[in-house]
Amino acid sequence: MDVFYNRAMETDRNMTVVLLSLFQETAYLPENKFKALDGMGATGIRGLRIAMEVPGSSVTINDVNPKALDLIAENIVLNGSMNVSTTRQDIRKILCEDRFDYVDVDPFGSPAPYVEYALHSLGRKGVLAITATDTATLFGSYPKTCLRRYDSISLRCFLSHEIGLRILLGYVIRKAASNDLCALPLLSYSHDHYYRAYFYVEKGAAKADLLLNDIRYLLYDRNDIDWFFQERDWMNHPRNLEKSPEVDFEMAGPLYSGGLIHPAISNEISKSDIKAALSEKGTANKAMKILITLAGEAEALPLFFCTHELGRKWGKAPPPMGKLLSTLDEQGITACRTHFSPTAIKLHKKHIGETGNICRIMETLFE
Ligand SMILES: C[S@@+](CC[C@H](N)C(=O)[O-])C[C@H]1O[C@@H](n2cnc3c(N)ncnc32)[C@H](O)[C@@H]1O
Repeated sequence: MDVFYNRAMETDRNMTVVLLSLFQETAYLPENKFKALDGMGATGIRGLRIAMEVPGSSVTINDVNPKALDLIAENIVLNGSMNVSTTRQDIRKILCEDRFDYVDVDPFGSPAPYVEYALHSLGRKGVLAITATDTATLFGSYPKTCLRRYDSISLRCFLSHEIGLRILLGYVIRKAASNDLCALPLLSYSHDHYYRAYFYVEKGAAKADLLLNDIRYLLYDRNDIDWFFQERDWMNHPRNLEKSPEVDFEMAGPLYSGGLIHPAISNEISKSDIKAALSEKGTANKAMKILITLAGEAEALPLFFCTHELGRKWGKAPPPMGKLLSTLDEQGITACRTHFSPTAIKLHKKHIGETGNICRIMETLFE
């Protein structure tokens, strides 16, 4: 194809239009009028859907490819969209020269080369959306590339996708912080071959400092399937490191250790009108399932327990997921499913510091 189009991303585009309306309801985006940039538009489908489905939007669709611009122009006419304009330039140029309330960066591969430009274009506040399809780099297949591109150490294990997504979030947060901006993660997920993340970006060094407390290193014990997060300050003191028995752990990071979905957003998703809005569209069920699962994960601790990995470790078969969750619940342990894996659970954050005990309880439930 001369111009990129991926039908499989329809689920993701469904989520974009629903989420933008939701960001308006939660005041992260202006409700009556906002300027959006679909900076890598290709056919223009994402920008056009925003223009037609999100009230108050006025959308600029940009692409560097002249053939894409011809197709975008055709699609605008076909859809009779009035609130759309187009440009053909390197996204970095338009991001330097114009201000937007919403910037969507959807490149081939890594968004890293565009992040700082996008942050600049949001000015004092706005919403940034990025897609990363260089997941192999982020989940540990190319550790050198990850270190170069994201200045972070990746790790190959069953947790790789969550670690990779958190490395991406950590990268954006750190880039923002170096510009005295706070890039608060609103919602992020891993799906098929890509990661997608939405941030509320706001001016403020103090807020940026606060968020940086959630940037940590992960120390992972592969043999025992155990892990913990280490503060960045601590890692910068080699003297402490020498004395610590934790040095045998494998390390990943810096990465973001906070929530993948902001409580304000998970509350909105849990409302029934959002569910109804989603079920009206063709690929809505898939999008709805992801959003509902994500909302359920909002109060969970970072990382998850894969029942198959635990089963291998204990030499036992895991019980069915539903049974495991209900039995844990009967014992006062709150856990949920995770969008990262159909065979994994996450623990509620009230169980911080209890994971060792909970694993021992779980072992008794495996047969
Ligand atoms: C993955 S596609 C975008 C898909 C589209 N957003 C969608 O939802 O269907 C990436 C697009 O970015 C364009 N592109 C690549 N580098 C660019 C740059 N530096 N500035 C602007 N556009 C660029 C490509 O021509 C391509 O059309």
